[in-house]
Amino acid sequence: MKEIRNIGVMTSGGDAPGMNAAIRAITRAAIYEGWKVFAIYRGWEGLIHDDIKEFSTESVSSTIQRGGTILKTARSEEFLTPEGRKKAYDNICKHGIDALMVIGGNGSLAGAQELALEYDIPVIGLPGTIDNDLYGTDSTIGYDTALNTIVECVDKIRDTATSHDRIFFVEVMGRDAGFLAQNSAIAAGAEAAIIPEDNTDIDQLADFIGRGIRKSKNSSIVLVSEKDGGAMHYAERVRNEYPEYNVKVSILGHLQRGGKPTAYDRILASRLGVASIEALKEGQRNIMVGIKDDKIVYVPISRAIKIDKPIDRELINVLTILSI
Ligand code: F6P
Repeated sequence: MKEIRNIGVMTSGGDAPGMNAAIRAITRAAIYEGWKVFAIYRGWEGLIHDDIKEFSTESVSSTIQRGGTILKTARSEEFLTPEGRKKAYDNICKHGIDALMVIGGNGSLAGAQELALEYDIPVIGLPGTIDNDLYGTDSTIGYDTALNTIVECVDKIRDTATSHDRIFFVEVMGRDAGFLAQNSAIAAGAEAAIIPEDNTDIDQLADFIGRGIRKSKNSSIVLVSEKDGGAMHYAERVRNEYPEYNVKVSILGHLQRGGKPTAYDRILASRLGVASIEALKEGQRNIMVGIKDDKIVYVPISRAIKIDKPIDRELINVLTILSI
């Protein structure tokens, strides 16, 4: 197996709070080993267009507390083509990069896997997405911060909801996953969450209304995942089917992705960053480092991106019981 001397690090896909803490940890842990670190800007775009520069330990000073990503990020169309990946590989060779560290979500890790298989370049993935939708890790970098941001927003929305006796449908991100919606609903004391994973035959809206939500309360808050028409869709239905209710919609949008990472995300990102270098040293290839029961785990990237991560029914039950 080729000895590792130089690594490349990039962030790709949607930015997530804590990505900087991960870049910092990877950079410092690699330099600690005596390796060189090449920072790749704008994800796969930067690798294709040679937007790469060497990092020192100072390059990541004072970044652990910052949201977004100092490496910038992008979603690259060109990387999806074999020609794009060939250009990316040429730049890997040009800089003598022996392994790639990719911090990102599902799409980014799928890209990493593709490149690894095509060109036999070792890649290590770090789960970086607010969606928490990667299999094999209990949490992803950025999820805890986004969850806290949502809860803070919903607490504020509740002031208006109670003052005006309104039903608020609050739409949150998560792409195809309902972790943000379900857990922020529990944490904010919301009355219901409408999530894609709860795909039983039960109509989630009818169920929420049917539970007699307005019998004991004059206002309610429903967290809705962005999928399938999101909050607008459900608000429209209530306006048509239950015109007696005063309905409002609030779409939290990209403010969920911004802001300082929480202590949890900073610690998680720091641990995963160091673990990713340890993994390379141990000869691990094409894995994602994750956290399971507070212990570092290695998950084959192929599993992390392909297997659906389920939402525990217990969480659904908790919200149902506590929202009476
Ligand atoms: O994957 C992170 C995420 O914020 C999703 O929750 C959301 O669906 C998507 O990215 C939005 O992407 P963009 O910032 O490109 O609009």
